[in-house]
Amino acid sequence: MSNLRLCIQKGGRLSEKSLGLLNQCGVSVSNGGSLKAEARHFPLEVLFLRDDDIPQAVQDGVADAGILGENVVLESGKKIDVVEKLGFGRCRLSLAVRREESYDDTAWFEGKKIATTYPRIVESYLREKGVSAAIEKINGSVEIAPSIGLADGICDIVSTGSTLLSNGLKEVETILRSEAVLVKHPSLDPEKDALLRDLVFRIQSVLKASEFKYILLNAPNEALETIKQELPGMKSPTILPLAKEGWSSLHSVIREDDFWERIGRLKDLGAEGILVCPIEKMIL
Ligand code: PRP
Ligand code: ZN
Repeated sequence: MSNLRLCIQKGGRLSEKSLGLLNQCGVSVSNGGSLKAEARHFPLEVLFLRDDDIPQAVQDGVADAGILGENVVLESGKKIDVVEKLGFGRCRLSLAVRREESYDDTAWFEGKKIATTYPRIVESYLREKGVSAAIEKINGSVEIAPSIGLADGICDIVSTGSTLLSNGLKEVETILRSEAVLVKHPSLDPEKDALLRDLVFRIQSVLKASEFKYILLNAPNEALETIKQELPGMKSPTILPLAKEGWSSLHSVIREDDFWERIGRLKDLGAEGILVCPIEKMIL
């Protein structure tokens, strides 16, 4: 049986989290600094590439799939399929200028020069805004371009914002928001397609699990009915009698996003000894 070949970023923002996700899926890969690694427990081979080289590799079938920023996929214009958003590596692609510039709107860029690794995206953004500016494509350290006189402004990825800050730049327009995605070659052979579907199934169960928490609490029996309404769970909560007369333990799952509000209400309803645990995988 042939291995599925997956490429991920070598070094950089997404590399460790990509390996972490694979690990959570039961696919362990050691990154010993080499360009290629074979996974344990799954027929998968990982290629470590520069993120900008991943779309081409997947389009040409050098790799079957890849994990990279959506921003890089868009910029590449390659024929590859986005299979799944992965919920990590969230960032924005933004225009930035020197902190001391007085900036009102995109008209500021008229006749100016912008340094970027994302010329196609910037070009179409400026066209839409009716602004004409020169675009200078550079492949690394875009943030230093204004200070060395190479450009008036830049367009680059902003995540925490610390790169802009330490280079005396300020973010003035957000062009798009991006996160890590799983991409694949548009026509995989059936064997590899089945492997990829298995991997996607695992990824989805890990991503789903991260939206929920497992909750256990004790409550007096007379409060159970109302507490159950707050914790519908996957099908319905589990209720077990406590050794203490008149009390029960209730187990359920709860959404991460409205978690604190619900906890407050549960306490008001008489819940005690509330325990909340992470869920590793969730298969619905
Ligand atoms: C981006 C960008 C900045 C940094 C911004 O690089 O080029 O260097 O991240 O992050 P911050 O706002 O947290 O400081 P990326 O990780 O995409 O790597 P690459 O451009 O070298 O591929
Ligand atoms: Zn890159």
